[in-house]
Amino acid sequence: MNNVQSGILESTPPVSRYLIFSLTEQGEARRSLRALRDIADGRQTIVGFGQSLVLALGAIVPGLRTAPCYAGVGFDVPSTPFALWCWLRGDDRGELLHRAKRINRALAPAFRLEQVIDAFTYGTGRDLTGYEDGTENPKDERAPEVAFVRGQGDGLDGSSFVAVQQWVHDLDRFDAKSTQEQDNTIGRRRSDNDEIEDAPPSAHVKRATQESFDPAAFMLRRSMPWADGSCAGLVFVAFGTSLDPFEAVLRRMVGAEDGIVDALFTFTRPISGAFFWCPSMQDGRLDLRLLGV
Ligand code: HEM
Repeated sequence: MNNVQSGILESTPPVSRYLIFSLTEQGEARRSLRALRDIADGRQTIVGFGQSLVLALGAIVPGLRTAPCYAGVGFDVPSTPFALWCWLRGDDRGELLHRAKRINRALAPAFRLEQVIDAFTYGTGRDLTGYEDGTENPKDERAPEVAFVRGQGDGLDGSSFVAVQQWVHDLDRFDAKSTQEQDNTIGRRRSDNDEIEDAPPSAHVKRATQESFDPAAFMLRRSMPWADGSCAGLVFVAFGTSLDPFEAVLRRMVGAEDGIVDALFTFTRPISGAFFWCPSMQDGRLDLRLLGV
């Protein structure tokens, strides 16, 4: 597939920087997006647009919407929509910093940088709890099938929808659990990554088994750990041909389906949640036809 933001298909890089922007001057948006188009290669820099930006451009992206918020028993899953999301992938934090500055300059003054999150790969692609993340991701030719829109026409084909949530872990609380409790929280053994057949129904992978949904809720996850001075967690990132699989899994995780809450909520909480549409590529540049850019 040569018309996709190909970085979506690659494994997570050693380091990432996420940039989240709001739209501050609508009249300048098209000019800034043209400048961004000259920088974003879809491989090392992946770009997604939020519903508010699409509306400001007078465009429609079928299937794009604002992320829902949920309240579970004693916890909230917030919706924190924004206009634009960039995922900078690389292996050198210094280079990421300079690329982020270039992007920020290209997008000003139409867009204001609201949030920056630095993320990294832990070991062999583990969450900070030590569990392998991404094992059940669709592989080989299934990965693009799950991630990219097709059969919808020019401008949409090759694009992708992404759900992004920042989770904050309470690692002390997780560490206080016994090894068996920890394994039952995830539903896999940390020691060998084997799935635990008789794990409780609250175990994360029991909640999230993609084939157990109707229709099946396949998504391509590209989450990465983050940490700053005193806090740490996971930036959950999942691409799909639509946002439906993510919503279906999340609804079950919060207990909206059967009252059983995902055991992840015993030690971690999302503090943000947003949906974006990641356009396809044309001749090596972002294809912004649908947005009239
Ligand atoms: C802090 C938050 C989260 C952590 C630490 C986490 C961690 C994990 C781990 C360790 C696995 C098992 C290995 C694998 O297949 O990747 C897994 C599986 C999975 N997770 Fe999460 N996850 C989190 C949030 C979410 C969210 C928000 C969703 C979607 C709404 C989700 C969807 C899935 C799916 C679909 C699977 C594969 C299930 C299967 O088909 O077996 N996860 N996750």
